[in-house]
Amino acid sequence: MVSAAWLPPEALRAIGSRRAVVRGEGPPVETVVREIAAAGGHVTFNETPTAPADFYLDSGYGSPEGFTLQRSDGVTYVRAGDGNGLLYGFFEVVRRGEAAFGADFGPEEHRPVMRRRMLDHWDNVAVHPVMGQVERGYSGGSIFWDNGKLRDDLDRVSAYARLLAATGINAVAINNVNVHAAEARLLTDRLDDVATIADRFRPYGIRTHLSVSFASPVTLGGLPTADPVDPAVVSWWERAVAAVYDRIPDFGGFVVKADSEGQPGPFAYGRDHADGANLLADALAPHGGVVHWRAFVYNHRQDWRDRSTDRARAAFDHFAPLDGRFRDNAVVQVKYGPIDFQPREPVSPVILAMPNTRLAVEFQVTQEYTGQQKHACYLAPQWSELLNWNGVADIAATGDGVVAVSNVGDDPQWTGHPLAQANLYAFGRLAWNPALDPAAILDEWADLTFGPGLREPLHDILDDSWRTYESYTAPLGVGFMVQPGHHYGPSVDGYEYTPWGTYHFADRDGVGVDRTVATGTGFTAQYPQPWCDVYESVATCPDELLLFFHHVPYTHVLHSGATVVQHIYDSHFAGAEAAERMRTRWHDVTLPDAALHAKVSDLLDEQVRSAREWRDQINTYFYRKSGVPDAHGRRIY
Ligand code: GCU
Repeated sequence: MVSAAWLPPEALRAIGSRRAVVRGEGPPVETVVREIAAAGGHVTFNETPTAPADFYLDSGYGSPEGFTLQRSDGVTYVRAGDGNGLLYGFFEVVRRGEAAFGADFGPEEHRPVMRRRMLDHWDNVAVHPVMGQVERGYSGGSIFWDNGKLRDDLDRVSAYARLLAATGINAVAINNVNVHAAEARLLTDRLDDVATIADRFRPYGIRTHLSVSFASPVTLGGLPTADPVDPAVVSWWERAVAAVYDRIPDFGGFVVKADSEGQPGPFAYGRDHADGANLLADALAPHGGVVHWRAFVYNHRQDWRDRSTDRARAAFDHFAPLDGRFRDNAVVQVKYGPIDFQPREPVSPVILAMPNTRLAVEFQVTQEYTGQQKHACYLAPQWSELLNWNGVADIAATGDGVVAVSNVGDDPQWTGHPLAQANLYAFGRLAWNPALDPAAILDEWADLTFGPGLREPLHDILDDSWRTYESYTAPLGVGFMVQPGHHYGPSVDGYEYTPWGTYHFADRDGVGVDRTVATGTGFTAQYPQPWCDVYESVATCPDELLLFFHHVPYTHVLHSGATVVQHIYDSHFAGAEAAERMRTRWHDVTLPDAALHAKVSDLLDEQVRSAREWRDQINTYFYRKSGVPDAHGRRIY
């Protein structure tokens, strides 16, 4: 049985007892009609009702995707800008339940802050020998693909689209950014597969996007080059894109990972990323499509001995000088931090450096570095903090919006860990409005998913779970220290002598990466004032980012008053204890679904085990390096 997640039948109970009138046209409007009927409600569609209704939903008012919600004289009104707005207004009423049909309120204006609210699937069509069916997927196989083929039964895609629409998501990319041979062909001879998936998303107001390979003119088209200024290459892309729009008129566009971790790109031809992105943007423009061009570009074959190269600098060095050169429909998609989806990173300076470029900020709902859906780790507080830092949300809103790597697979719970559903829900809600309070989003999710009564334990378990995860893993912003390859569990030196550029430089005296202008890699200079100064000085650098920016002695005293090494011990003991409290708290919860309860219990056992493993390896490592004993005499091995 597939979990109903946040849309169980009970969530639509208030709708089911109402008489509704729906007016409008297009697939999302028809979806609303079907939803009301399926919930048991009486619905009149584009006709004059024979009896007075208590729920009116009308489209054709106001801005695209927005809606006005009002209750007056015992009638609830959703007046929407378009079909998507109507759908979002409908789901807002679902969220409120009976309250939407109680006392008068409004009119309230609702409009998404981000124009694009997108999920990227890192799903492979064919099972990849190393990465499997879903790269960094922790929820089973793909809901789209099975061992080289489009799945016969795509009802789960429809169910997924429905869940996403209820959070406000309006775009999905259906294949991995690492485009291997089978996946490349989705663009051409396997376009029917893409069209079939797009048919499932369309009723829910979601556009389908595709990751494509920059080398397609060579690998698929048989041309001798993929050089972006070669006229034959330009016309190959024009023809390929025209064929896509012939088949899928509302196709969203492309996602491209180029010159990154072995993917082909414009560098091979002596061109830059603007040349590459604009090639695709120009092909897409006549059809209204966009290209999401990822800024995750760095040297993944670095010599660890080379202290002049700093991976954190790479995206800015490649992209900031190109500001203003990208077409209007070329979106530069930037990971939130300069390295790679770590539990704690500063905001990427690229986001602040490209005022004349349409940007999207990229997050990871899949928990590659935050416990891989074995650990309960509610990420909304992290995303909220990043988006609300120094105008990041405004930059994304004036640009393209926000994107995240999905955490969904064919697992019956959708997300492996049942509590990881909260992250998927919260991402959509924060994309809609980054000012929403993560705790309030958790209330919504808890009530819809479990009915009333579970808010308190879920807050106790999840509210601080991201900070808890941070506290028992890699300290003070240093990041990584994970097992190489799969990235689960601790390995302090796992990446220290590798080509990946993710080092901590711990020695007997201290730890951290000197990224200052004065003595380090100069990365701090990529930030505008005041941040370059704030990060440059140990006196002003925030504790939680200290080791991201500085190499300091173990005896360095933090703003908190603790020394670095004592903080490492304290936070790891505290983090592992917090994980134990999460488990204890869950034991007190009663759920009608005993199997679900047991599943979460088992996962919390693993989280406690893993947190202890992290605690003991990290503490032991730094005790052995520094020789400084724990001030509280606790057990270190
Ligand atoms: C991380 C991740 C890769 C992924 C890459 C990306 O490095 O480990 O699996 O391909 O990010 O974002 O492209």
